[in-house]
Amino acid sequence: MSVIEKFSLKDSLAIVTGGAGLLGKQHVEALIEAGADVIIFDINENALEETKKYFLKKYNTDVLSLKVDITNEDEILKAKEKIFKHFSKFPNILINNAAIDPKFEKNSAVNKSRLENFDARQWNLEISVGLTGAMLCSKIFGAEMAKNKRGIILNIASDLGVIAPDQRLYKQDGLKDEEQNVKPVTYSVIKHGLIGLTKYIATYWADKGVRCNAFAPGGVFNNHSDEFVNKIAQLIPMKRMANLDEYKASVVFLCSDASSYMNGATLNMDGGRSVW
Ligand SMILES: NC(=O)c1ccc[n+]([C@@H]2O[C@H](COP(=O)([O-])OP(=O)(O)OC[C@H]3O[C@@H](n4cnc5c(N)ncnc54)[C@H](O)[C@@H]3O)[C@@H](O)[C@H]2O)c1
Repeated sequence: MSVIEKFSLKDSLAIVTGGAGLLGKQHVEALIEAGADVIIFDINENALEETKKYFLKKYNTDVLSLKVDITNEDEILKAKEKIFKHFSKFPNILINNAAIDPKFEKNSAVNKSRLENFDARQWNLEISVGLTGAMLCSKIFGAEMAKNKRGIILNIASDLGVIAPDQRLYKQDGLKDEEQNVKPVTYSVIKHGLIGLTKYIATYWADKGVRCNAFAPGGVFNNHSDEFVNKIAQLIPMKRMANLDEYKASVVFLCSDASSYMNGATLNMDGGRSVW
């Protein structure tokens, strides 16, 4: 097999959770370009429909878009049945990508993003998607992969799964310390937790032909303010955020035979931020 052939995902069937979101759609595109059939799990019905239309138009590929709340095991199990009916097989690739991007009211009397005020319900909600959802999908589809002796689970962590957030990035002039927004504690815990889940699964099913790795990307530029971009650039040796399509090749590498001896690892791709 030539080195280029090792990147091929022909005959692969992949699920991307949160595949209708900003980065999820890029993962889907990468998988399609490498030859895989793709299933998206997302809760955002409009985005699911738009994403399906987008790939039909761009690649003439019919992505199976399923409204699945990954915190709900019954919904995942129903989706599993639909997938088998549709493809007569189970997926050999799972990308655990879904997450809640929490929005906190700015300038309210109590800043709920701050640890001192962080609500346990908000904690549970975010953990249920970022960690419990990833565990449930891994359990249900990973078990089939282990039976088939073939599979790859890729957990989308973050540079903040490897380093702590620098809260100075989110500081706004004119606000007292207790009013400042911060990157919430859940983000660190979920992203570090996904790296733990990666190591657990990597050793649990290694003898069954299932590999599991984590990907730790840095922030993607998405119309952030100049002020934010200038601040974050100071923390990144390459002095810029990632472009939206810059992670596609890594996703194909991690989901293909190109990474056949990689297991339990975390691939950092953050312009060098985490080594400073
Ligand atoms: N965007 C970045 O700069 C960046 C950087 C590093 C890591 N990441 C990670 O990449 C992943 C994707 O980020 P994004 O920027 O595309 O976020 P996004 O908010 O655009 O996408 C997340 C998707 O997950 C879906 N989702 C939420 N709850 C769900 C549930 N219960 N069941 C199924 N789907 C659900 C949302 O509907 C959404 O489409 C996240 O894990 C994020 O932490 C993002």
